[in-house]
Amino acid sequence: MNELLLTDDERERAGARLLALLDGYERGLAKADILPEPDREALAALLATPMPEHGVGVDGMFDRWEDTILPSSTTVAHPRFLAYVLGPPNAIAPYAEAMAAALNQNCNFWQLSPAASVVERSVLEWLASVVGFPSGAKGILTGGGSLATLQALATALHDRVPDFHATGLQRSAAPLVVYTSVEAHRSVDKAAAILGIGLDNVRHIATDVRHRMDVAALRSAIAQDRADGLRPWCVVATCGTVSTGSVDPIDEIADLCAAEDLWLHVDGAYGALFLLSDQMRDLMGGCARADSITLDPHKLLYASLEAGCLLVRDGAKLRDAYAFDSSYLTVADDPLMTDYMDYGPQLSRNFKAFKVWSALQAFGVKAFRDANERTLELAQRLGRGIEETPGLTLLAPVTLTAVCFQVDGYTPEQHTALLEKLAAENVALLGPVVVAGKRGIRACVTNHRTSEADIDLILDRLR
Ligand SMILES: Cc1ncc(COP(=O)(O)O)c(C=O)c1O
Repeated sequence: MNELLLTDDERERAGARLLALLDGYERGLAKADILPEPDREALAALLATPMPEHGVGVDGMFDRWEDTILPSSTTVAHPRFLAYVLGPPNAIAPYAEAMAAALNQNCNFWQLSPAASVVERSVLEWLASVVGFPSGAKGILTGGGSLATLQALATALHDRVPDFHATGLQRSAAPLVVYTSVEAHRSVDKAAAILGIGLDNVRHIATDVRHRMDVAALRSAIAQDRADGLRPWCVVATCGTVSTGSVDPIDEIADLCAAEDLWLHVDGAYGALFLLSDQMRDLMGGCARADSITLDPHKLLYASLEAGCLLVRDGAKLRDAYAFDSSYLTVADDPLMTDYMDYGPQLSRNFKAFKVWSALQAFGVKAFRDANERTLELAQRLGRGIEETPGLTLLAPVTLTAVCFQVDGYTPEQHTALLEKLAAENVALLGPVVVAGKRGIRACVTNHRTSEADIDLILDRLR
């Protein structure tokens, strides 16, 4: 007897319970609490429970899911969950995740995951074509946008620092400097700190009135650092800043990086997949000129967490940064297959590409393009509603789906109280924001389930 297997009856039972759970969850979403009060007693009891020596069986486990886990889980899929840049998963995600777990492909080298290797490559090539990268581009799916940027900057170090694998940053030389804007995501700082660049060597360049990196200020910061004997190394531009959704002038920044011989990374975790719509080319087209770019399929492709993506224009540079010889892991090269352990820091890797690819198979890219265009329109609708309402003021232009506003005369505490009230009344979960020093509220309509009626309900309540 193998204790880790299910009998035929148990398998049938588990399938039936799972389907009932998924169905009930979907049907209950619209009426669910967006931010349920966590059941502290149940969670404390969970924590106090010793590791079970004997299991409770399939039904017991599903009961635990239902009585302990579900009631204290945030309803990210609620149509008025508009906090942060986090959307509900697309509806194929649970099935693809279940199948990926059953297949349990190890996406490190292709012998352990031949179809998965090709699926990941296919997804990466599709995404590279959305960005407009050339055919030599390569990439890898990651645990999210933060990791993609970390892996991009490690690639840039390897490319720009001689003998980087051998000496790292230990050779005595002038510090490398990375430039990003004051609006950049903190994952840029985090990557610089983790990689040993040091936060002292991250320049946060000022932004213009539309919260985009000021290229003149960037140019003078680079000149100043060169004059001071430092080594300007990399610029991280943002395509969709986390607070306001502003898009840096990437074309102009690319010109400057070319003139100054700097690596250009674009953090497109929030915004770059809006490039699925041609109308975004004017705003974001410069992304195609980057040396590397971060995208987040777990945002605008509504993949379930986690699915980030790094693409590097010159794919050989990505491979050079991460490929290490390991005689015990080698199988014969096959031009159809890719060993993803050579494109990132992980060895064992799950099959993230499966859920992205499966959803594109099931729905087609047009469905995602339409959903994203709908969210852009809904954000404009909300922005217009705010502008038309006396007593509410937009804190930033609505470029993508982030809508930042304040209630005139409100203190930070009153804004926090308003956020809590909207959540407690189940009107919406919105998030806090600070724009140019002003505290306010931010709705991020990165939610394919949100409708015009949801936006109007929020506006009505605010009024
Ligand atoms: C601009 C930007 N960069 C990076 C990230 C981090 O992405 P992740 O949460 O996938 O690590 C976010 C998340 O919202 C973001 O908006």
